[in-house]
Amino acid sequence: MQKHQVLIIGGGLAGLRAAVECAMLGVDTAVLSLLYPVRSHSGAAQGGINAALANMPECQDDSPAKHAYDTIKGADFLADQDSAEILTTEGVARIYELEHWGVPFSRTPEGKIAQRPFGGAGYPRTCYAADKTGLYILHTLNEQAVKHRIKVYNEWAALALASDGARSHGIVALNLQTGDIGAFAADAVIFATGGAGRIYKRTSNAMQSTGFALAIAYRAGIPLKDMEFVQFHPTTIIGTNILMTEGARGEGGYLINKDGERFMQRYAPKAMELAPRDIVSRSIQTEINEGRGLPDGGGSVYLDLRHLGREKILERLPGIRDICLSFLGIDPIEKPIPIQPGQHFIMGGIDTDNDGATILPGVFAAGECACVSVHGANRLGGNSLLECVVMGRRAGAAAARFVQGQASAINQAVLNDTLKQTIEQVDALLKSEGKERLVTLRNQMQETMTDKVGIFREEKPMAEALAILRELRARYRHIGVDARHRKFNLDLLHTIELGGMLDIAEATAASALARKESRGAHARLDFTTRDDTNWLKHTLAYFTPDGARLDYKPVTITRWPPEERKY
Ligand code: FUM
Repeated sequence: MQKHQVLIIGGGLAGLRAAVECAMLGVDTAVLSLLYPVRSHSGAAQGGINAALANMPECQDDSPAKHAYDTIKGADFLADQDSAEILTTEGVARIYELEHWGVPFSRTPEGKIAQRPFGGAGYPRTCYAADKTGLYILHTLNEQAVKHRIKVYNEWAALALASDGARSHGIVALNLQTGDIGAFAADAVIFATGGAGRIYKRTSNAMQSTGFALAIAYRAGIPLKDMEFVQFHPTTIIGTNILMTEGARGEGGYLINKDGERFMQRYAPKAMELAPRDIVSRSIQTEINEGRGLPDGGGSVYLDLRHLGREKILERLPGIRDICLSFLGIDPIEKPIPIQPGQHFIMGGIDTDNDGATILPGVFAAGECACVSVHGANRLGGNSLLECVVMGRRAGAAAARFVQGQASAINQAVLNDTLKQTIEQVDALLKSEGKERLVTLRNQMQETMTDKVGIFREEKPMAEALAILRELRARYRHIGVDARHRKFNLDLLHTIELGGMLDIAEATAASALARKESRGAHARLDFTTRDDTNWLKHTLAYFTPDGARLDYKPVTITRWPPEERKY
């Protein structure tokens, strides 16, 4: 059995930043990752990372407070304002730290870190490295992890948390390479596994973004917060839903309907294409629903970059040009790109405080899988990479304090019991004669979420979704696998993951059905306005075998009273 003071689940930006912090504080730290860290989904982040550096001529008077205000307004006032200020204030130091560690940020003519406009931001505030910002930061943090000799368990899937209800004692995980299931004793565990986009059919998220770690925490009694708030990125390419960065609009790209009209004039006359994502996605979907989309039958409009010119596209947006050439056979220098909104991010997640701590002592979370909450009902583009490095560092520091402040209290018996139960469950699945299959149930879940818990929501479809998801959870009890080998059995892994995905899809639908207002990304056709009297509160979903039990807690308001959002 392996033992570490802190075990971090996930090797993306938040996980690596947490790990580096723990290692710098002298804690025995390891990372357990489904993938080699540099293959993490953080590497798909394109457009940039926000901080009030005030580097551009147009943003000399920018400040962390202005960034916090934009974040809170973008969040439709559901973000906790103390958390948002931590994000934007500490964010500045985190960017310079990344610069010093070697991230090759794009530069202004004077050599400062360049900043581009992004949606919902009052100033050009998004620092970038062409359109591969996440990839460069991921590699840089991986170098730091190597420098600090952090042990990485590659290609291990966390399956269960060993907890006696009073604290955690470690993790049980599946070694994909061998098929063995092992226990990892740890005084503290940090979940940093990213999002859950794959519960939807149309998503920009990678295959690994199943959200299974949310299910692990949820099943262990930790609530999931604000799961109803799901972000749909306005511009993903039609069909595959690969991201076309918001940076494309930040650089001046237009959204055009089938009549060649820049339709954002109708919805956000001041901000136009750079309104926050929830507004732009709803605007695109409205154009499509009202018959002004492209006549391709797939539901799309154009992202038009042609007027930016060849030089700017090659310098600032080379990655998205490559994607268009490879996946659409279109060169955006010459032709507009057919795009549609696609699931991109979950604002909700494992409920944590500002240090990543959950209600279960010894368990922390950071990055997209966590809900602090800094994004409230709608995240601003460029704030998620920032959250990873700011909250990753804070969770690492808090976990280090936790393990250094007390003697190790790992209960081996709890860990052994969890190991034994998990082995029995996986063995039973490998031997099951159950007739239900992964692909059938997963497709139905993904279609249900996209069709009924999507950009626009209403009582009846959401109630239907909840009923379907509950039926799928019942059918999942009769699931079997076709591949019964041990080594690299992805049929087995994905079937295990599906159980967790169904749990969190159900929690998402239940939370959405219950919230009878429209706020940020939660847009209801039957309750069209924001209702601060009754709904200025966070949703908490607690696991029960029959489905989510909902509770609520207040939003922290410090300096900015809620007001109507206008862009
Ligand atoms: O559009 C983008 O480049 C995505 C950025 C983000 O989600 O923050």
